[in-house]
Amino acid sequence: MVEVLGAEKNYGGLRALSGVDLHVDAGEVLALVGDNGAGKSTLLKLMSGVEPFDGGTLKVGGEEVVFHTPRDATGHGIHTVYQDLSLCENLDTVQNLFLGQEQVSSILLGNRLDRREMETTARRVLGELAVKIQSLRAPVGWLSGGQRQGIAIGRALVSEPALILLDEPTAALGVEQKAEVYNLINRLRDRGCAVLLISHDLRDVRHLADRVAVLRLGAKVGEFVKADNYDVDDLVASITGAKEAIV
Ligand SMILES: Nc1ncnc2c1ncn2[C@@H]1O[C@H](COP(=O)(O)OP(=O)(O)OP(=O)(O)O)[C@@H](O)[C@H]1O
Ligand SMILES: [Mg+2]
Repeated sequence: MVEVLGAEKNYGGLRALSGVDLHVDAGEVLALVGDNGAGKSTLLKLMSGVEPFDGGTLKVGGEEVVFHTPRDATGHGIHTVYQDLSLCENLDTVQNLFLGQEQVSSILLGNRLDRREMETTARRVLGELAVKIQSLRAPVGWLSGGQRQGIAIGRALVSEPALILLDEPTAALGVEQKAEVYNLINRLRDRGCAVLLISHDLRDVRHLADRVAVLRLGAKVGEFVKADNYDVDDLVASITGAKEAIV
């Protein structure tokens, strides 16, 4: 459904990505793993319209597309949840869910940002994701990491994306909050959404992801399919290049 072909990205003299091919299908969770600096976030930035490709192409539904801004990506159904979540601490849950989505709001609400309608939509979206928030009127700065991640994902869902990109959504979370986020990801998959997940939690990735792509020094060096019942050690070897070093 979304396809990257031969992606190239350079930062000055540094080759952040070279010849990377990747595809994600509807209803599939694809994990992207690799060491620090392997190029994971860079690939996400190309797919979300934050950075331009230096070479290679992006296809959505078989059609080649060129994104100049993140808005171009959202226009093609690709939504990104960044690691910092980009939530406004002092605004409440409902305000955060609709932040920057005036277009969606105006279609939904006939140009009036009606608070009651927004709360109804907010309850529906959060309910679908099973995100529990006691007061929708509390500033999100008061909420837990798992709840905040839920709101950030919920914000992407307000506009019914085809693909959601998640950059280390569980990095700062405890065990229970991580489990909450994994539930969210499973629910996205159940809705037929495609999910691209960057994570360093290899054990969790093995359980959660239908497929895993491994990046090393800007190149794709491996791909693992859940059905093949691979080992976490295989992932580690691919990430570090240990196997090639021995051979
Ligand atoms: N804006 C930038 N300017 C210069 N170099 C950059 C820029 N963004 C990324 N890089 C470099 O590109 C390489 C890939 O970075 P990237 O952030 O994609 O890694 P990553 O796989 O996401 O790592 P991590 O797991 O630490 O988040 C790194 O060497 C990084 O220093
Ligand atoms: Mg990164």
